[in-house]
Parts: sequence; structure tokens; C-alpha cells
Amino acid sequence: MDKIIIQGGVPLTGSVEASGAKNAALPLLAAAILIDGPVRYRRIPHLRDISTMMTLLAWQGADVAYDDQHCLHVDTRPADKPEAPYELVKTMRASAIVLGPLLARFGKARVSLPGGCAIGARPIDMHLKGLEAMGADIEVEQGDIVATASKGLHVARIVFDQVTVTGTENLMMAAALADGETILDNAAREPEIVNLAQSLRALGAEIQGDGSDRITIQGVARLQGGDITSIADRIETASYLAAGLITGGDVTVTDTDPAMLDAFLARVQDAGAIVETGDDYIRCKANGRLQSVDIHTRPHPGFPTDLQAQFMAMMALAEGTSVVHESIFENRFMHVQELARMGADIRLDGNTAVVSGIDKLSGAPVMATDLRASASLVLAGLAAAGETTISRVYHIDRGYERIEEKLGKLGAHIVRHSVSENWMQGAMLNA
Ligand code: EPU
Repeated sequence: MDKIIIQGGVPLTGSVEASGAKNAALPLLAAAILIDGPVRYRRIPHLRDISTMMTLLAWQGADVAYDDQHCLHVDTRPADKPEAPYELVKTMRASAIVLGPLLARFGKARVSLPGGCAIGARPIDMHLKGLEAMGADIEVEQGDIVATASKGLHVARIVFDQVTVTGTENLMMAAALADGETILDNAAREPEIVNLAQSLRALGAEIQGDGSDRITIQGVARLQGGDITSIADRIETASYLAAGLITGGDVTVTDTDPAMLDAFLARVQDAGAIVETGDDYIRCKANGRLQSVDIHTRPHPGFPTDLQAQFMAMMALAEGTSVVHESIFENRFMHVQELARMGADIRLDGNTAVVSGIDKLSGAPVMATDLRASASLVLAGLAAAGETTISRVYHIDRGYERIEEKLGKLGAHIVRHSVSENWMQGAMLNA
């Protein structure tokens, strides 16, 4: 298990390129199951969840290969196992997004039911309800969702009780090959949904309204092979901009899209940062100490829950008191206790955190608990006086490609230490 060690207190400056988005690439790869031909994927980040998805597609019988560093070739025509077994997908919550495509293509699917997660229960009831409305019979057997649609999926009008990102993606993919018109109401509007819809459209799908809360899908008989490109990772982009701001620096992220980050950029401007944007870059420059700002997480285009922890790290050092309200996940404050170990003054009350800004954080050994919580600890470590050691960094590796290399390029003093498994086992036996 690796550790990341940071010597904090260095203002980060310079420019770094955004990677492709994990949360776009995962549904785009799941969509391969629907496509009757070879697909060339571009801008796919090297991350653990992506490798899991590639392993799953290969296990199902697809041809999967890297063409070059971030380009993948996937052809699911030889695939013949409409399953996602526990052993392969237990580490990846997003495994449920293969359910819609498998059902649409094979009329049946057996997919391991995702377990709970550090940030909340994360049920997938709305995915299942939608698939049932499209004619699927669904049972849970031995921890797996067993779904059948022996006569194929039919169209439906689905109104989501609550906005769900992967739920919208799952049903959009399921409906792509159904006979007739499916309407998804109260659909998610995240840029990753638009990326998926645009990609499927380019291969023959008839989808309208993506980016709004009503998506209409007219089923087609076949989707042909072609090229698919992931959008930039907006959460990674904002995390590097936050790294610049929390250290009093000046960071530019290139190959990204400022329009995806309106809510975040508005809040950092409110906090006093200087923000400059171009067609494909964002620069954020500190302008004295950050001022406290309140945030309330919401589905897109609101403030993203995936940036709540990173914003809180910035607010821990801001002037004044800020209120952070988390409305998407019930348990997404695991970073609070770790930030407190570094001196942060944060009071929790249900799904609200009251952050009283302090002058200085101090380095400490801390533990990553989930992906975005880990990113907030990295940010705090970059700003803190002295050394911060972050353990359980496999959480970070699920969503940040080459994080220490990218931060190093911006001037951070950050290294990764690999702790050998043998040593760990020995230590555990001796414990
Ligand atoms: N929900 C239900 N029932 C469902 C589906 C969702 O109750 O059937 C609830 C969830 O428990 C949550 C809310 O609805 O309270 C929204 O969840 P959503 O379904 O939108 O989340 P998701 O699709 O599982 C994706 C991202 C998350 C991101 C959320 C919210 C992917 C692969 N994951 O998850 O990303 O936080 O949307 O924007 O796209 C991350 O990257 O760190 C991450 C957790």
C-alpha cells in the first residue's frame, strides 16, 4: 500500500494538462456493449476503475487493447457473457452501468449488486425501477442482480424521483436499442451525460435533450463502430486549480472546458481568487488570503459534490466562517476528522459543516477514506507547514492520474512511497 508524503508550504505555479474524465470514460466504455463494431476510444485516463472496466469487458469476451497511451480499442462483438461477477467489480461502484447495455443487447444480465460505499449507501433502486418499467424482470440472487427481458426492452416514460447520474446513463443506454421512444424526466444534466449522448449519436443513436432534464431516446436497430473521445475531467481540473489557490499560487489547467465548472469558478471568485478562462484553459491566481464562502452541493449545474471536500480544505484556511452543505450524499464528511488532525476548525451538524478559517494548518499523518476526501487531504498537505503523510492512497489512484507527477510539475514537494506487501503482512502478523 503506497503512501504520499508532502512537504507543504510551497505556492504552486505553472500549468498542467487535464486528463480524460473517469466519470465520462466509465459509461463510454460500458456503451461498447451496445455497439456492433470496433470502437476507438481517445483520452481514456489510466486509473484503477478504468482498468477494472477493461478487465470486465475482456472477461465478457470483448477484444480490448491499448492502441497507445490513452487510446483504447474495444470490440464487443465476440462478447458472449452478459455478466459482471463480484470478484471483478467489487471495487468499482459504477459497475451497475453495464446493466442497461447488457440487457439491451442480450435480453439478460447478471451483475453483482454494488455494496455500500464510504460516502453513503448509494442504492441503485432508480436504475432498477427504470429497467422494470422497460419490461425487465429483476431479482436479487446471491448478491447479484439477475435481470431478464426475454422479449427485449420496450419503451417507457421514466420520471426519476431524484437526479441520478449513472441512473440516467444506464437508462439512456438501455433505451438506445429499444423499439420506439423513451422519455427520461428529471434526468441528470452533467457534462458526462452530454458526452455519452453525443458519442452514441455519432454512432447512429437518436437521442435528444441531453444537457436538459428531459432526454428523449428514439431506439434504433443498430449502433455502428467508430471513434469516441472522453471529455476533460472537470473534477481533476478544479482540484489542481484549488491546489494553486490553497497554496497562494497561480495555476493554469489546459485542455479543459471552463463551461463545465461555472459553479466552482463563481465560488472561488467570490472567495477572492482571480479567474481567467479561455476556450480550453482556466487560470486561477490567489489574490491575498481566500475569503470564506458558503457552498451547497447540488446536481449539475449546481456546485458538484465531488468538489465539496477540496473546497472545504480551502475554506479551512480562509478568512472568516463558511458553511458547507452536502445535499447529495449522506456521509461525505469523512475528511473532516482528518483535516481536524491538521488543525482545521470544523464543526459538523448533520449534513452541514461549519468551517472557521484558521491561519495555518500543520502537517500530520492522515488517512484517505474515499477518492475526493483524499484529494482534500492532498490540498491541505500542500498548504500545511511541515510534513503530511497520506496513507491508503489507492483511493486517490481511482480518480487522479499521476497526481504526484502533475503536482510536482507545479512545484509541489510530493513523493510516493511504496510499502511492500510482504512488509505489511509481517507487520500485521506482529501486531
Ligand atoms: N440514488 C438513489 N437511488 C438510485 C441512484 C441514486 O437513492 O437508484 C441517490 C444516491 O444515493 C445519491 C443521489 O441519489 O444520494 C445521487 O446519486 P447518483 O446516482 O447521481 O450518483 P452516481 O451516479 O452513483 C455519480 C458519480 C459520482 C458523483 C455522483 C454525483 C460516476 C461513476 N460517479 O455517481 O462520482 O459523486 O454521480 O454527482 O459517474 C466520484 O467521482 O468521486 C464520485 C463519487
